[in-house]
Amino acid sequence: MDSRFAKIGIFDSGVGGLSVLKHFLRYLPHERYVYLGDTARVPYGNKSRETIRNYARQSTNFLLSQKVKLIVVACNTVSSVALDLVEEISNVPIVGMITPTINTALAFSKTKRIGVIGTRATILSHSYQNALKEASSYNSIEIFAKPCPLFVPLVEEGMVSHPSTELIAEEYLAELRQASVDTLILGCTHYPMLSGVISKVLPSTFLVDSGEESAKYSVKLLKERDLLRSVEHNAKLSPDIEFFLTDYPYNFREIAKNFLGFDIEEVKIVNLEH
Ligand code: DGL
Repeated sequence: MDSRFAKIGIFDSGVGGLSVLKHFLRYLPHERYVYLGDTARVPYGNKSRETIRNYARQSTNFLLSQKVKLIVVACNTVSSVALDLVEEISNVPIVGMITPTINTALAFSKTKRIGVIGTRATILSHSYQNALKEASSYNSIEIFAKPCPLFVPLVEEGMVSHPSTELIAEEYLAELRQASVDTLILGCTHYPMLSGVISKVLPSTFLVDSGEESAKYSVKLLKERDLLRSVEHNAKLSPDIEFFLTDYPYNFREIAKNFLGFDIEEVKIVNLEH
């Protein structure tokens, strides 16, 4: 089969990756997608490196079995601790969240005082911090990184502009405000949903959405590799997405709609441990 006709595979620890898929639908509307959310084992953000790598291997193998042409590691936690493993076992190109995001952050930042927020696993892995330092050749760049573990459940509870979320954001982001970062990397699938609250605490800081940056990066990559599905390859323009989850959570439809902007009609359940 012509690889251009194959689907793009996107995986995440759960529903958060739908915020990444949303950008892909905007930048690459003619593509077909397979989305895999490991809702049975989410969250990954506080789990050990070994466990996250084991889960990442299973998700990658599942998407490869779907004969995708590109795998997008929508989860920042997986991108931080297991991207090398995903690349090693895959025979198709891989897009993680870190490289596309740091390039934009470095291009935008004037003061080279850059903040990074993410899950504990993401921040403690130093993935973003190391990539920023390397890409800037260590030239007078200052990085301020902060894990914000409560942001994920707050978003999933729909409390994106609740006063308690504002209080927690104040607490988490106080050091970054103190440091006068001019650019902040939202290094987690859920955080773009909180950009309103985050901008209240850091009003003059530019926010970089890792999901959007990875979508823009993928457009270039697919073009370069002649893997782009062009308009004439796709007669119908409604999103063509197959959804797989490892569990069907009670509030899935509601959260999914918040992330994606439309209802998901059909979901298939898979067991990645088999
Ligand atoms: N998807 C995760 C990330 O982007 C957040 C949720 C989790 O902890 O699994 O890091």
